[in-house]
Amino acid sequence: MKRSIVIAIDGTSASGKSTNAKLVAKAFDFVYADTGAMYRTLAWHCLQKKVDVHDPKAVAALCRRWKTSLECVGGSIRLLVDGYFPEREIRTAETSAAVPHVAAVPQVRDWMKKKQRECVRFGNLVMEGRDIGSNVFPDTEFKFYLDASLDERSRRRAAEGVQENLAARDQRDSQRATAPLMIPLGAIVINNSRMTAAETSGTIIEEIKKRLPETR
Ligand code: DC
Repeated sequence: MKRSIVIAIDGTSASGKSTNAKLVAKAFDFVYADTGAMYRTLAWHCLQKKVDVHDPKAVAALCRRWKTSLECVGGSIRLLVDGYFPEREIRTAETSAAVPHVAAVPQVRDWMKKKQRECVRFGNLVMEGRDIGSNVFPDTEFKFYLDASLDERSRRRAAEGVQENLAARDQRDSQRATAPLMIPLGAIVINNSRMTAAETSGTIIEEIKKRLPETR
């Protein structure tokens, strides 16, 4: 069987990962996977079940018991809670505050890594996150790392109506012991502070085409 191609897009918060990953997936007709949404779904599940997200053992136990499934709808992969995808709920301030704690639990990261690797069964993938090129698919030759200045990223979040301390979030994501946010070995780094999404995704698409001759 032909191996699925995986495009890994990692980077800081509000660096444009989702927008660009979706544009790249569309350009190649690949499936899109937002791994941040997967961690958010588990965080929401913890909140629903009244599991203290500051208690790693309790979070790991809930994750172990979680009878979830992966589904691919309209070209996007997601995890379900009792057959339901909490699309809006995972974006609330409450879930956003809970998710870094859940994402720092080593057993959760191992569990997520397995689930994220399973996503290749849906076909060629564009997967965005913090540790995709460094930890989930370290062997892929398609690795990108997006960043932008803190000012620009804060401005983007504010334009979405979200006030968030991005510096604190990046620090937590970069300093956790297990699979921290980092520039993966071999990744192409794009600072898009002064770039539009069309320019950023265009740069990524060109780089992919250079290595995927059959798509040219
Ligand atoms: O990208 P996002 O804001 O939806 O991510 C939510 C949280 O999950 C954020 O704190 C970083 C974390 N995360 C992670 O640790 N590893 C990933 N692969 C994706 C997200």
